[in-house]
Amino acid sequence: MDKLVIYGPTRLKGEVTISGAKNAAVAILPATLLVNGISIIENIPNISDVKLSCTILEKLGAKVNWIANNKVEIDTRNITSSNTPLDITSKFRASYYLVGSLLGRCGSAEVGLPGGCNLGARPIDQHIKGFESLGAKVEVSQGKITAKAKKLVGTSIYMDIVSVGATINVMLASVLAEGTTTIDNAAKEPHIVDVANFLNTMGADIRGAGTDVIKINGVKELKGNYTYSVVPDQIEAGTFMLAAIASRGDIVIKNCIPEHLDCITAKIFEIGGNVEDLGDSIHVWTNKRPGRAIVKTLPYPGFPTDMQPQIGVALSIADGTSIINESIWESRFQYTAELNKMGAHITAQGKSAVFEGVKNLTGAPVYATDLRAGAALIIAGIIANGETHLYNLDHIDRGYENIEDKFRSLGAKIQRVSE
Ligand code: EPU
Repeated sequence: MDKLVIYGPTRLKGEVTISGAKNAAVAILPATLLVNGISIIENIPNISDVKLSCTILEKLGAKVNWIANNKVEIDTRNITSSNTPLDITSKFRASYYLVGSLLGRCGSAEVGLPGGCNLGARPIDQHIKGFESLGAKVEVSQGKITAKAKKLVGTSIYMDIVSVGATINVMLASVLAEGTTTIDNAAKEPHIVDVANFLNTMGADIRGAGTDVIKINGVKELKGNYTYSVVPDQIEAGTFMLAAIASRGDIVIKNCIPEHLDCITAKIFEIGGNVEDLGDSIHVWTNKRPGRAIVKTLPYPGFPTDMQPQIGVALSIADGTSIINESIWESRFQYTAELNKMGAHITAQGKSAVFEGVKNLTGAPVYATDLRAGAALIIAGIIANGETHLYNLDHIDRGYENIEDKFRSLGAKIQRVSE
């Protein structure tokens, strides 16, 4: 088992380059199944969820060729099956995108019920409602989802809850459907827009992505032989922004889209940090202890749930008492018990947690309880006095490319050690 050994405290300084967005990449890869041709995807993050997605594509008959570290060519001209390897698909959340993609391509799909981070109940009723509205028969049994459709026909679908996954999945299933599909109360995250841009590059006709009404005019076929570059990762950029603030550092974050970070920038201003928009990079710095804040996580453009643990670390050492209210995932506060092992004073109950700011954290053995919790605990180790040993790195490797190299380049004393 690997662990990260981190010696703190360090004030992070320097430049870091952001990778392509995990949550766009894990939708774009299955979406290549919708075309009978060759796709070239650039700025694709080299992370374990991406590698799993590629392995599944290969098992379905696609040829996957890594042209460079962050550039992959996928040839989907010989798809031989719509039955995915259940043991692999049940390992990560985004495998649910195979249902929409395979329904669109083959009219049928069999996919293991998605795994991924344990953030509480993660229902997929809105995905199923979308597929059924388009004319598919969907069954969930024996740990898998089976979907079949003779023909998919466009319709109006109202999402009862704002869901990133269901919005993307319905887009995937409807690009080749007959007629027009309208998604009302759609999610608006940057990766929704990116997946729509990707599909439109292949010849789809999707309008309104980034607003809460998306219209998909079905087309007869999509065309291969294109190159697409994945949008920079909003959450990775936000993670380094909060790392700058918590460590009283000074970081220039390159290859990001500052407008996607407005919700994070606003909170950083509130807690006394500085942010400067440099066009395709962002400069974040402070030389003082963060101030207190009240944070409520919300769908985009609200403050992202995937940034909650990282701002939680900054608030754990804030001057004053803060409150975080989590409105998306019921089990997102598990990291607070780990931070308390490092001397934080956090009381989490249900959907809220109270952070009584302490002056310093101290190094301790801690466990990444999910992907973003893992990133947050790296920041905690960097700002803590002494040595932190961070376990359960599988969670972190699912979503952050070269994370310890990136933190090391900013001055962090961090090493991956095999036990
Ligand atoms: N929900 C339902 N029914 C559904 C779908 C969702 O009730 O059919 C509920 C969920 O239980 C949750 C809320 O709706 O309370 C939002 O869930 P959403 O569907 O938006 O989440 P997701 O698509 O499963 C994606 C990201 C998560 C991120 C959320 C929210 C991927 C692969 N995952 O999950 O990312 O937290 O959106 O922004 O895109 C992460 O990257 O660490 C991560 C967990």
